[in-house]
This record gives sequence, structure tokens and C-alpha cells, in this order.
Amino acid sequence: MTNQNREELNSGEESRTIEITVFRYNSQKKDIAPEYQTYTLVETPGMTLYIALIKIWSTMDHHLSFDFVCRAGICGSCSMVVNGKPRLACKTRTSEFPDGKITLHPLPTFKHIKDLSVDTGNWMNAMSVKVESWIHAKEETDNAVLEKRIEPDVAQAVFDLDRCIECGICLASCSTKIMHDDFVGAVGLNRSARFAMDPHDERTDEEFYELIGDDNGVFGCMSLMGCEDHCPKELPLQTKIAYMRRKMVSVK
Ligand code: SF4
Ligand code: F3S
Ligand code: FES
Repeated sequence: MTNQNREELNSGEESRTIEITVFRYNSQKKDIAPEYQTYTLVETPGMTLYIALIKIWSTMDHHLSFDFVCRAGICGSCSMVVNGKPRLACKTRTSEFPDGKITLHPLPTFKHIKDLSVDTGNWMNAMSVKVESWIHAKEETDNAVLEKRIEPDVAQAVFDLDRCIECGICLASCSTKIMHDDFVGAVGLNRSARFAMDPHDERTDEEFYELIGDDNGVFGCMSLMGCEDHCPKELPLQTKIAYMRRKMVSVK
């Protein structure tokens, strides 16, 4: 019995054939024009785009480039545009597409590397430096002393924002970011809110204003909502951007 027959028997359903069309371009070889390439493969039960791309890579095209690490929606590296919407490939099932036709593009706004692979890391690193994404305390930390206790509901609210996986989907969903490359986006404003809410961080509103009180920060956001609509971790981005905007408006 073939693997395909065994999978059909286990699922009780007939497999179908799906078509995955991929944007192909190598940013290192600008003399070769971009093109689309379509791969036809048999869908297996529970198949995700991650599994489909691995199958294409291992059986049809070893030159196809795409990024994955965790396969579990944790590392944020597999973001791509799936039939026009930015999503995590490892959390997207092929069965969600009734006609079996799926078109994949690399995430916009980030430096393109090759095919579906983009460089989110350098942008995220620069954003972290820009919003000073670390605890600012007046006194040196003494590791021999227990950390200052905070209320459980405050800790929970901070940890909730820490669930961001830096996938870049909020940026790819944001027209402001697409027009203004220096805009820190929902990911950056969420990060600022995370530290502004944390009692361990002793920064004043005026100090946050110096970092995000301009059009590249909280005043660049036009409340377009694409970030929250597409965030795979369902972070409360709108509420937190509004929280930071209220704080920044009160500074001046
Ligand atoms: Fe991804 Fe959401 Fe974090 Fe944006 S805020 S980088 S969409 S997890
Ligand atoms: Fe962009 Fe989200 Fe603001 S989509 S404009 S960061 S509400
Ligand atoms: Fe890590 Fe998809 S591979 S989030």
C-alpha cells in the first residue's frame, strides 16, 4: 500500500490535487526577471503550507527558498502572503482553500532575499534599538536581591504583550508601514506599551515621547486596523496603540 492510499484510508477521505503558485525571484541576481512557478501535488490530511513547501522542496525543486524554524507558530519566521493575506505558513492548512489553488508571495516591506525568504531580523533589531526595547531602571540590578513584585493582573497584561513572535505580519498588513519605511509599526508600539505597563521600567512619559512621539511612532498610525486583523497571536494591538497615543498626547 502506498503512503497516499494509507493516508486516504486513515482519513476516510479522498485526496485531491492542489496547485501552489510561488513568486520566484533572487534579489542577488537582478538580471533574471521575477516569475511565477506552479507546483502540483497531492494534498495529505492536515497538510499545512509548511508541509506542502517541504514536499515541493524535497521532491520537485531543491532551489526553492523559504524560511521555517519551529513549525509551531512560535518563531515567526514562516510569514508569507497567502492568496493576498499575510499569514504564518506553518499554521495555514491547505484545506482552507476550497478550489485547491494557492498563490504565495514574500512578505512586503522587508528586504527581499530569494523567493519567499525575506530578512525580518535586521529590521526587528533596528526597531528594538529605536524604541529602546529593554527595562530602564535608575538603579543597577542586584542579582542577589529578589525582583520587585508586581500585581498578578499587571504581570499577566505584560506577559500577554510579550507573546509577540516578531513575525512581521502586522507590518505587512499596514499601509502606513508600506509608505513610510521608518514607521515602527504595531510591533514597535506594542513593544513600547509592554515596557510602559511594566512597573520595573521607570521611564517617564516624556522619555517614551522622545522615542515614539512622532510620525514614525505613535502619531504615524492611522488606525487602519490591518495589524490587529492579521496578527497570528491575536494581540490587542489597537488598544495598546491607543494606550500609548493617550499617554503621548498628554505630554504636550
Ligand atoms: Fe506578529 Fe502580532 Fe508581533 Fe506583529 S504584533 S510581529 S503580527 S505577533
Ligand atoms: Fe497600521 Fe495598525 Fe496603525 S495597520 S496604521 S499600525 S492600526
Ligand atoms: Fe515558526 Fe512558522 S515556522 S512560526
